[in-house]
Amino acid sequence: MKGLILSGGKGTRLRPITHTGAKQLVPVANKPILFYGIEAIRDAGIEQIGIVVGDTHREIREAVGDGSRWGVKITYIEQEAPLGLAHAVMVSEDFLREEPFVMYLGDNLIIDGISSLVDEFRNDQPNSQILLARVPNPGQFGVAELSGGAKGEVGKVVKLEEKPKKPKSDLALVGVYMFDKNVFNAVKAIKPSNRGELEITDAIQWLIDQDYMVNPHIINGWWKDTGKLEDILEANRMILDTLEMRVEGKVDKDSRIDFKVVIEPGAEVVRSNIRGPAIIGKDSRIIDSYIGPFTSVNCNTEIRASEIEHSIIMENCRITDVGARIEGSLIGRDVEVSKSEFKPRAYRLMLGDNSRIGII
Ligand code: DAU
Repeated sequence: MKGLILSGGKGTRLRPITHTGAKQLVPVANKPILFYGIEAIRDAGIEQIGIVVGDTHREIREAVGDGSRWGVKITYIEQEAPLGLAHAVMVSEDFLREEPFVMYLGDNLIIDGISSLVDEFRNDQPNSQILLARVPNPGQFGVAELSGGAKGEVGKVVKLEEKPKKPKSDLALVGVYMFDKNVFNAVKAIKPSNRGELEITDAIQWLIDQDYMVNPHIINGWWKDTGKLEDILEANRMILDTLEMRVEGKVDKDSRIDFKVVIEPGAEVVRSNIRGPAIIGKDSRIIDSYIGPFTSVNCNTEIRASEIEHSIIMENCRITDVGARIEGSLIGRDVEVSKSEFKPRAYRLMLGDNSRIGII
């Protein structure tokens, strides 16, 4: 089997972070989301992985490399524009050839991995296997309608709809799909949707209509599409909760570290309180500050005389003397937030397009 990770697309819901970078590289617990997908596919015993890339291909190639660090071989596949998930499959045909494959959306995160699901696909050999999860907001996803199976059994897939206004169930399509070669006929047969994309949801519906075997699997474990701020913060919370305490940097005697805290090598904590689950990245400095639960501070960042909780701070930031606690925030690379010494007292902001600021 081969793996295919989709890492093109626009990331409009995460602007301004995605004005300058790929959404799949936003770090969760200091590791790019995309890396969790690569690891999940590798752990399922798959060594050849294609990554579909678009405008942000340079940054993704630089971060991922040739895959040797994970013991896999990565092939990059360029998609000229984000014309839909089924289009991404179409442009990957030369890489996938006739082999069955698992397709993994590069902004999705499944905490339990996908090994048992891939095994199930290998054993049962359907033409496609889809994963479904019950969600409170199905209208934001592809939605499946199942026929009633016998007691305790999952029924058959009857209908799939992409982001329907009136969802027929609460079963959302999770961003991990398995296919055999018949999917290429499907992606060539369908037409673009109302939003102008070739939808994988329509391609799977085509397989169902042509009587191919499409097996649904309802997952009960934790899964997240990290397309939006709240979802990234929740993913960060879930992953941080799985970390074990590890202190490899320096913590002075006037500091206090509680619960699951990771201090990476070269990091320094001075006269500060860090309450986990939290991670402080390589070469970062926390001085006279409080870092609260569910916070990831990436590498080479300095936080001085400030309080931060439930947030992601990316690399090379300077946060100094901020009078109130920073909470529920995603702060991009090379950002400075500091108390202004200038008179008159005022907010002085330099914000990129689509920034979001909450003031008190
Ligand atoms: O997360 C699950 C959902 O993912 C499913 O429930 C939906 O049925 C499915 O259509 C998809 O919906 P999204 O609107 O969330 O997909 P998004 O545009 O965010 O794209 C998912 C990933 O695929 C993302 O990493 C970007 C990448 N992508 C997207 C498009 C449209 C590509 O590589 N090429 C593309 O053409």
